[in-house]
Order: sequence, then C-alpha cells, then structure tokens
Amino acid sequence: MATHTIVAIVGSLRKESFSLKIANALARLAPASLKLDVTILHGLSFFNQDLEAAPPADWLSFREKLQKSNGVLFVTPEYNRSIPGVLKNAIDVGSRPFGKSSFLGKPIGIVSNSPGPLGGVSAAMNLKQLLPGIVGPIMGQPEAYLNAVGDAFDDKGQLIKESLQKVLQQYIDAFAAFIELHNK
Ligand code: FNR
Repeated sequence: MATHTIVAIVGSLRKESFSLKIANALARLAPASLKLDVTILHGLSFFNQDLEAAPPADWLSFREKLQKSNGVLFVTPEYNRSIPGVLKNAIDVGSRPFGKSSFLGKPIGIVSNSPGPLGGVSAAMNLKQLLPGIVGPIMGQPEAYLNAVGDAFDDKGQLIKESLQKVLQQYIDAFAAFIELHNK
C-alpha cells in the first residue's frame, strides 16, 4: 500500500501539551498507508507581508513540507473559544503568497481537544470557517472534539484512556481512507 505523508500540525507549543500527545498517539495508531509528520510550530516566524519579497527560511521549509505532503491534520486546543495564535500564524504563513497557498488541494482533518467538557469544539468550528478558501476537501465525518483529555495520558505521555484510544483509532482509520480517496 502506498504511504501517504501527512503534516500533523500541533496547535500548542507547551512541552506537556495534550494536543502533542494526541498527535503522537494518532501517529502510532495510523495504518501503514499513513505516515504522520508531527509538526510543532517552534521557530516559525510571525507572518509579515513585508517579508514576502525575501521570505525567512523557516517559512520556506514549512511551505515546502506542506506542498510535498498528501494532506494536513490539525490537532489543536482551544484558546478563548478560538484557535491559538501560533496556529493562526502557521495558517497565514502557509496560505501565502496570494493564490499560492501551500495547503491548496490538500485533504484536511481537524482534531480539537480540551481537558474541559466541550472538547475545543469552537476552535474546530473556527478552523472550518477559515480554511475553505485555501485548502482542499475537509473531512466531515467522523468529527473529533475530544473532551476531558486531562487524565488520558500517563507521565511518560502514553495513552492510557481506553475510550479515547478507540475514538482515535476510528478517526485515523477514517482519515486514512479519506486521504486515499483524495490522492488518486
Ligand atoms: C485555555 N483553555 C481553554 N479550554 C477550552 O476548552 N476552551 C477555551 O476557550 C480555553 N481557553 C484558553 C485560553 C488560554 C490562553 C489558555 C492558556 C488555555 C484551556 C486549555 O484547553 C488547556 O490549557 C490545554 O491544556 C491547552 O492545550 P495543550 O497545550 O495541552 O495542547
């Protein structure tokens, strides 16, 4: 089976980030057809249109990684009912120059999460609102708004919550099929 590479963008810079742990768990659970490149946004310069004439090297390598991928998976927490600034910055960087979005045509998955009860659903909805003009198809179902993730991992970052493992497995299997479908 062909291996498709997915850029799994983590919306948190925190060392013990649940989003990072979820992205790593999804990478482990992914079927053989899918390779998740878990990408943390450390060091991605702030978007500034003035720099577009001579873009910083970190923008260029981020854009190239997106362009070479077979799809993008956003794994994000919710900050103040929206997405964290670092993630918005990455989307802005990837979406430019105008008309040359590096996300163009890429099939997209969205996984939001929160230690709270609502699973970051507003962050996911924000993504669904801002992405359509710059990406390819966004997977509609299954949806993944993961709540109460605070007790899902042990102190080594291993997933210990069986119910979450089941949901993640279902999600990544469906996403693999979605990626196959849109990379024919
Ligand atoms: C939060 N948090 C949060 N949680 C939520 O469910 N809805 C929200 O709107 C917010 N808002 C918010 C704003 C800011 C600035 C911070 C720092 C946090 C809590 C958040 O879900 C929690 O800190 C997560 O652990 C952050 O994700 P990572 O870093 O674990 O991936």
